[in-house]
Amino acid sequence: MKIVIIGGTGLIGSKTVERLRRLGHEVIAASPNTGVNTITGEGLTEALEGTDVVIDLANSPSFEDKAVMDFFETSGRTLLAAEKIAGVKHHIALSVVGTERLQESGYFRAKLAQETLIKASGMPYTIVHSTQFMEFLSGIAQSGTVGDSVHLSPAFVQPIASDDVADAMTDVALAAPVNGTIEIAGPERSRLSDLVARYLKATGDARTVVPDTEARYFGARLEDGSLVSDNGPRLGKITFEQWFPTSARK
Ligand SMILES: NC(=O)c1ccc[n+]([C@@H]2O[C@H](COP(=O)([O-])OP(=O)(O)OC[C@H]3O[C@@H](n4cnc5c(N)ncnc54)[C@H](OP(=O)(O)O)[C@@H]3O)[C@@H](O)[C@H]2O)c1
Repeated sequence: MKIVIIGGTGLIGSKTVERLRRLGHEVIAASPNTGVNTITGEGLTEALEGTDVVIDLANSPSFEDKAVMDFFETSGRTLLAAEKIAGVKHHIALSVVGTERLQESGYFRAKLAQETLIKASGMPYTIVHSTQFMEFLSGIAQSGTVGDSVHLSPAFVQPIASDDVADAMTDVALAAPVNGTIEIAGPERSRLSDLVARYLKATGDARTVVPDTEARYFGARLEDGSLVSDNGPRLGKITFEQWFPTSARK
C-alpha cells in the first residue's frame, strides 16, 4: 500500500513511518522539512499521487489561539481537498481524548475544528483520540510553571507512551475506515499533579507542584474525568516506570 504520513518527521509521525516501512509499505514522510506543506499546498499533489491511506500527524508550530485555529483549519481543508482529487481511500487523524469537553481552550477548539472538517468531508475516515503522550509531561509541567512552582489540576490522566501510539496508528492504517472515533490510552491512571510531581522528582527538577483545581490545562478548567476515556479505549502496554529510564527528556 502507499501511505502518506503528514507530519511524518514528528514524534508520532517518525515512529509510525518506521513501523509501516518495516511491514513493507511504500511510506512518504511528508512535512515542510521534506518539501510537503499542508498550509501552502507545496508538494501535496505529487506526494498524494497513487496514495491509498493518509495519516495526518501534523501539529501547529504555535499554540496561540488564532494561530492554532488557522493551522488546523487551513491544513485540514487543503489536505482533504487534495486527497479527494487523488482518490485517497482512508483519511486518518490523531486528536485528543476529551477534545469536546475542553472547549474553553483555543488548542482544543482548533482540534475540534479539524475533526469537524474531516466528518463533513465525505472521505472515509478514522479519528483516533489519544490521551496525553508521556513525552508531553515536560511540556505540561512547563505550561503550569510560575516561578519555582508548577500549578496543575489534580484531574485524572492516563498517559500513553509514543511507541504505543505509533503501534495503534500502524494498526489503524492497515484496517478499514471506521467512519467514527476510536480511543487509546496508557495502562495506568493517576492524578495529573501527582504524576508531574513524580516526573519532576525523577528528573532532579527542583520545581514544586501545587495541586489546584482551578489551574487551567492549556486554557481549560478540568473536571476529574476531562482527560480520560471511559469508552473502552485500546490500552498501551508501557507503564511510566518502564518508559521513564529509556525515554524521558531530562
Ligand atoms: N501531545 C499530546 O499529548 C497529544 C495527545 C493526543 C493527540 N496529540 C496530537 O498528535 C499529533 C502529533 O503530535 P506530535 O507531538 O507527534 O507532533 P510533533 O512532534 O510536534 O510534530 C509535528 C509535525 O507536524 C509537521 N508540520 C508542521 N507544520 C506543517 C505543515 N504546514 N505541513 C505539514 N506538516 C507540518 C512537522 O513537520 P517539520 O518537522 O517539517 O516541521 C512535524 O512533522 C498532533 O495533531 C496532536 O494534536 C497530541
